[in-house]
Amino acid sequence: MSVHPQPAPEASATRPAWTLPRLREASARGEKLVMLTCYDATFSRVLDEAGVDILLVGDSLGNVIQGEASTLPVTLEQMAYHTRAVAQGKRSAFLVTDLPFGTYEASPEQAFASAATLMRAGAQMVKLEGGGYTAETVRFLTERGIPVCAHLGLTPQRVHAIGGYRVQGRDDAAAKLLLDDATALAQAGAAFLVLELVPSAVARHISAELPQLMTIGIGAGAGTTGQVLVLHDLLGLTGGTGGKRPRFVRDFTRVPGSAADAPGLSIAQSVAAYVAAVKDGSFPDEAIHGY
Ligand code: KIV
Repeated sequence: MSVHPQPAPEASATRPAWTLPRLREASARGEKLVMLTCYDATFSRVLDEAGVDILLVGDSLGNVIQGEASTLPVTLEQMAYHTRAVAQGKRSAFLVTDLPFGTYEASPEQAFASAATLMRAGAQMVKLEGGGYTAETVRFLTERGIPVCAHLGLTPQRVHAIGGYRVQGRDDAAAKLLLDDATALAQAGAAFLVLELVPSAVARHISAELPQLMTIGIGAGAGTTGQVLVLHDLLGLTGGTGGKRPRFVRDFTRVPGSAADAPGLSIAQSVAAYVAAVKDGSFPDEAIHGY
């Protein structure tokens, strides 16, 4: 058995493997970054080949894989299991995994132990939800070599405290608090910041004020460094029957302007359409998808 370290992930046929410094360079060049959730090895390969830059093993797997009503029941072991699967399928994409509810809030030490489990499973960065009070934990992790993606706005792990899945940061005081929290998280060393369900103007302002932070929007307009969607939303598999599709989601399986009964795109084509639309700035269209 070789004792030599594993080689860096191989480049795919068309692009080198993303690393954090390469993502920073791309973002500094003004390139839009494309993130998409992913939960297994097969989709990992398909999404990577379709050009997705960053795969997120989101705790949304509680909703879309397990059928739970919220992300709260998801465990660290389940996140590690799905992270391992996604890591096996990808070649170039960067891999971020959510720290699930109850595995990081108690102390920086608890967060480090949980993050280490996910990094051993193949994550290259961990994501955690919450405002400036998590800055101490973000600093603790980044100082110890664990890159961090913060998450503000609608934070689904706090759904019961918030009282539902609704737009955040609508009034001036709430928007200022978001900027203050984002500033604290950036100063603590967070590399990415997911902004979920916040008015476009607020996300644009935070992104402009904190250029060292790569902001990734979902339901946050077009002014962020990149975009993220839940894979099942992109594929039109959620919200179609019974529920209402959220305003910020576009069904990428449909060719824009095609008749409702026209044949849809394949999964690979749909994901490639999402990648192209984020890269060329046509998604999200704030008039349709913004708040
Ligand atoms: O869990 C998840 O999928 C997420 C995205 C919605 C950003 O956190």
